[in-house]
Amino acid sequence: MITTICMNPCFDKTVEVPSLEVGQVNRIRDARVDMGGKGINVAVVADRLGLEVQCLGIMGRDGAAELSDLMDKENLKHDFLEIPGHVRTNTKIVSKSGQGVTELNEPGPRVNKEILDSFFALAKEKTAESDMVVLTGSLPPGCPEGTYRDLLKILEGKKCILDTEGKELELAAKGAKPFLIKPNLREMEATLGIELRTMRTIRDAALLFVRLGVEHAVVSMGEMGAMYVSADKTLFAPALRVEIKSTVGAGDAMIGGMLLGYAKEKDMARAFRYGIAAGAASVMTEGTQLIVRSDFEKLLEMVKIQEV
Ligand SMILES: Nc1ncnc2c1ncn2[C@@H]1O[C@H](COP(=O)(O)OP(=O)(O)OP(=O)(O)O)[C@@H](O)[C@H]1O
Ligand SMILES: [Mg+2]
Repeated sequence: MITTICMNPCFDKTVEVPSLEVGQVNRIRDARVDMGGKGINVAVVADRLGLEVQCLGIMGRDGAAELSDLMDKENLKHDFLEIPGHVRTNTKIVSKSGQGVTELNEPGPRVNKEILDSFFALAKEKTAESDMVVLTGSLPPGCPEGTYRDLLKILEGKKCILDTEGKELELAAKGAKPFLIKPNLREMEATLGIELRTMRTIRDAALLFVRLGVEHAVVSMGEMGAMYVSADKTLFAPALRVEIKSTVGAGDAMIGGMLLGYAKEKDMARAFRYGIAAGAASVMTEGTQLIVRSDFEKLLEMVKIQEV
């Protein structure tokens, strides 16, 4: 059983307008609501790829029934601590006149130490049967610095995949030795406060984390592909050429793919290929659709891994 953690889930509301007029009344042409949050997305991808997975997290009581319903419809196992407040809604305004997508993201319900302690206890208990745990996505307001590090410590002994950036990534890498980290290039640059222009600098940046005790680092670079770095191996894979529908969530799909790869291959360097295929497969579907397994299976044959 794999567990993903989603501490700040949301409703993803997508609305379509002919043209977005700021400061005016805009009439919505079409609207849809999906469940969202990176931990939920990774769980859905892992489930579609055939893994046994559950999602744990925290959610506001208002909206909890609707969000749980959406997870049930996906047949996703879930266990969320309900707290006062409402499940946040992230609104994507899609303009049909070429203005791109405008996003309005709510912060989510506030947590305190008591809530976090209860959630950590839930996470410890419910991951008893899991040897891999994925920690990803934004943290709710009220979390102290180092919350992911503290959660990783609670989950000590499990192989934890951490997808975060900045201070949270730095503190977790220094204090808790995650099994795998997966920043994208921009997040890696922001975390270190430097520009990474060459393959060598990207590898050296990843190695900084490996020296701190991270076992495997994957730096994803969108349409450029990704790099895998461990103490004794560096791999690069160019992205697969696919028809692009939406690149949102490619990183989440990549993690789902690597979970499957690791389950099959028992080796993260060999699992990297599955991540590249899953990232590309997710790009072929609309943002909220995540991944189609047959796309992934076709692409897996096409991944080219280069040793650096
Ligand atoms: N346009 C693309 N074409 C083919 N493959 C892609 C494309 N974009 C992303 N991928 C694949 O998916 C992987 C992850 O993508 P990316 O680096 O964009 O993740 P991310 O920024 O973490 O995304 P998110 O956080 O939105 O899920 C890439 O390393 C690449 O292999
Ligand atoms: Mg990402």
